[in-house]
Amino acid sequence: MPSLKLSNKVSSTVLRETWSTKRIFILAAVGSAVGLGNLWKFPYITGENGGGAFVLVYLGCVLLLGLPILMSEITLGRAGQGNPVHTMQVLAKRQGASRLWSLLGVNGLLAGALILSFYTVIAGWGVAYFFDSAQGVFQTMSAQQASEHLTVLLANPLQLLWWHTVVTVLTVWIVARGVRKGLEVALNFMMPALLLILLVLLGYAMTTTGFEQSVQFMFAADFSKLSWQAVLVAMGHAFFTLSIGLGTMMVYGSYFERQHSIASASLWVAVVDTLVALLAGVVIFSIVFANGLATGSGPGLLFSTLPIAFGQMSGGWFFGTLFFALVVFAALTSAISLLEPSVSWLNQRFGIGRIKAACGLGFATWLLGVGTVLSFNMWQNVHFMGTRTLFESLDFMTTNIMLPLGGMFMAVFVAWVFKDQDRAQEMALPKRFSAVFLLNLKWFVPVAILWIFASNLVTGQAVWWVMIGALALYGLYVKSVLQTTRPG
Ligand code: PHE
Repeated sequence: MPSLKLSNKVSSTVLRETWSTKRIFILAAVGSAVGLGNLWKFPYITGENGGGAFVLVYLGCVLLLGLPILMSEITLGRAGQGNPVHTMQVLAKRQGASRLWSLLGVNGLLAGALILSFYTVIAGWGVAYFFDSAQGVFQTMSAQQASEHLTVLLANPLQLLWWHTVVTVLTVWIVARGVRKGLEVALNFMMPALLLILLVLLGYAMTTTGFEQSVQFMFAADFSKLSWQAVLVAMGHAFFTLSIGLGTMMVYGSYFERQHSIASASLWVAVVDTLVALLAGVVIFSIVFANGLATGSGPGLLFSTLPIAFGQMSGGWFFGTLFFALVVFAALTSAISLLEPSVSWLNQRFGIGRIKAACGLGFATWLLGVGTVLSFNMWQNVHFMGTRTLFESLDFMTTNIMLPLGGMFMAVFVAWVFKDQDRAQEMALPKRFSAVFLLNLKWFVPVAILWIFASNLVTGQAVWWVMIGALALYGLYVKSVLQTTRPG
């Protein structure tokens, strides 16, 4: 059985554990990536954004932006050996670049905490559903009863607050204890179980009358329905679901031993993550179409559809209870990875112990989470950033702006600031692949992300002008990097 090895890489005062095998690293990274993003968020945003074309853009973003940035982020973490702020400071100094790069780490810590504040609220719905399922509440549930069941839960702030508190306490408790063996054992069991239960659900979905329509909805692309806002959401989700752009994979990468391949580990993470999301989507939309429900019903989609399936299928009580246990579990392994970067920052920067750091941060995100709890009931009509509730604003700001921005700068750092030999040594990519990878990182990634941002800010011809301006700035930046960091 592989075990955690202790190594002393950062400083004599900070003991760092490394994940001793590649498999354990992949498990932990998959544990972070697979979560509410796949099971809860992907289906509902796919429904809200019209299906097929949205899914295709999302898949394109995972492949062309997500995967290369995931590789870049792990590389940064492994080279810098620390929390995101520290890592960027150390690497910028080593490569002779500006200290401002540490802002990338700050953006990440902030985004992580903001995401966690609503993540634990939604995970709380999962805990509530786990207990409901165990008590047999979903047996023979009709579509209407299922949606009423969710409405009743969401209308009750105290109950939401209670489950939000439970999830926050669990998250803080696991993080406070540090990277431990228990997590590996749990992940070992969880991932295969989750895949298996999704396959069981797929089997059920295939027997419903909605299956064909669901596949059609998810995979037949009609680009005429796609807005630039939907493209932004698809891109943001690619970052959210792969846990990239904020430093989670940086911290995890710092535990990843040198002899293992970053490319193949990243590929595993992306493949498993995408598979889980697509499976969840097909199952959920089969139930939607079989029961004449609305595809665009929003954040409640997972919770108002699956109970119908568990109410109808044989063994529904067992599968339902196990499924919601796995949802909670998948959410927890992601939640801890949202808290970990800030905890390790407080620990490394100020010497604050893990327990204190985790509790303090947990309290802050819990408090902010109260706003999300209220977004679904008492503050339903309180709007920020246009017509968004507090929850929607937090989600939009982090997922669609902070993560893509963070990811873009990580790509730029690895592509332009890293010295060629350092990058080659750290990533060890096959030569031919390396050239394509670098080209993509240097040009496609920043241009695509800026383009999508620009298209959401302005319309028509103005997009071209904004892009020309942005590219000119980028060109100037590249020129200055080439002059300052690579003399000769
Ligand atoms: N990837 C996680 C999910 O899909 C969420 C997450 C985002 C975790 C960013 C860590 C960092 O649920």
